[in-house]
Amino acid sequence: MKMKKFVAILMVVLLVAGVLAGCGSSQSSSAPQDEKPELVELNYYSHPDEKGVMSKMIEKFQEENPNIKVNLIELPADTNKKLTMISTALQAEDSSMDVFDADVIWPAIFASAGWAEPLDNYMTEEDRDQFLPGAVFANEYMGKYYGIPYRTDAGMLYYRKDLLEKHGRDVPETWEELVETAQYIMGKEESITSGHAGSWKQYEGLTCNLTEFVWSFGGDFLDNKGNVIFDSKESVSAMETMSGMINQDKITPEGVITFGSGDARAVFFAGNMVFLRDWPSGWSKSQDAENSKIVGKVGIAPLPKGSMENESYSTLGGWQVMVSKFSEHKEEAVKFAIFRASEYSQILAAEELSHIPSRKALYENEEVLAAMPFLKDMYPAIIHAYPRPKSPYYAELSNILQIETQRAFIQEKTPEEAVMDAAKQMREVLGQ
Ligand code: GLC
Repeated sequence: MKMKKFVAILMVVLLVAGVLAGCGSSQSSSAPQDEKPELVELNYYSHPDEKGVMSKMIEKFQEENPNIKVNLIELPADTNKKLTMISTALQAEDSSMDVFDADVIWPAIFASAGWAEPLDNYMTEEDRDQFLPGAVFANEYMGKYYGIPYRTDAGMLYYRKDLLEKHGRDVPETWEELVETAQYIMGKEESITSGHAGSWKQYEGLTCNLTEFVWSFGGDFLDNKGNVIFDSKESVSAMETMSGMINQDKITPEGVITFGSGDARAVFFAGNMVFLRDWPSGWSKSQDAENSKIVGKVGIAPLPKGSMENESYSTLGGWQVMVSKFSEHKEEAVKFAIFRASEYSQILAAEELSHIPSRKALYENEEVLAAMPFLKDMYPAIIHAYPRPKSPYYAELSNILQIETQRAFIQEKTPEEAVMDAAKQMREVLGQ
């Protein structure tokens, strides 16, 4: 009898000691000392592993955390395809996806659905202060924080420095100037078959390009109460300008309606185009002689404005790491998410892939600045990059905008009709 009581007490003591030892570290640290801690495997749903950068990060993380193995699941580069695959796993409450990358517009979608683990307990306000405010704000939903930003993004104007110099042209400040300069150079240079392109196929990249045009004419999508205000003359001017570049000005190739960022880059890197709207990640590729014929000939500037009375706008992009509500290894997943957004990981991605950092301090970091010489000048555009609407219905709204914008591009609708129809459908989605 006595013996049984002793064993029971001993077990309680061991259990409590185990729980205490487990606090702040992985579940396996309660294992007896002479046994190897149990290996926890995490599945990380992410981007294609360009230049093996992610594998290198994972290797380092595993060295520092020998009890955690991270399996990288490479999803397609296309943002919309990633969203579908990640949402499918979350909707199915699939516990095999522990941690995943999220575009800056997704935290609100996943948080409102109850699919993401809030990370407030793992990150103090002081921790969050290390990051750019826009990147942090994107991860907030109803007062809680759901993702850790590991990369920010902002739309930029890439231009052929050599051609502008040769023809005595300044970097355009308005879309009108851009059209005029592109037409001029197209008329003078045989190899220049196009003036400008962006990622205008029907996917999220098109919304990012459209938002920049609309804001640069003084228009917007939702007001601060969430009401649709897209049907304005400013939005119509923006839509007319985009469609005009394809159909009247003939500086943007008709094929742009199938261009993702890779396709638009390909024309520019082949040396056949004057201007490109791209993210900073295009920079390292443009300077890699294996992919690009214009190494040393590229400049980067803020995007043009609707007129000299308007402002230039970059769409805020970027990527976060989020932890699935259905993961069975949340603590380890958070550990990895923090590492993915660490200085080490961001410097590596900046050097290899010209991914611009979400951590403020890295804008003073010599390695980062050396990898991206444009970064200092573009800093104001980066910190003022403007967010797309934050809404649980974001994907539906964006989809409407993409479809209607393409209808204007192929002249199935006038720019005005496309704007009005998009606004009407957006109101329906939001029940207004
Ligand atoms: C980039 C941006 C992201 C955006 C996407 C569109 O990856 O970082 O925010 O939604 O491009 O394709």
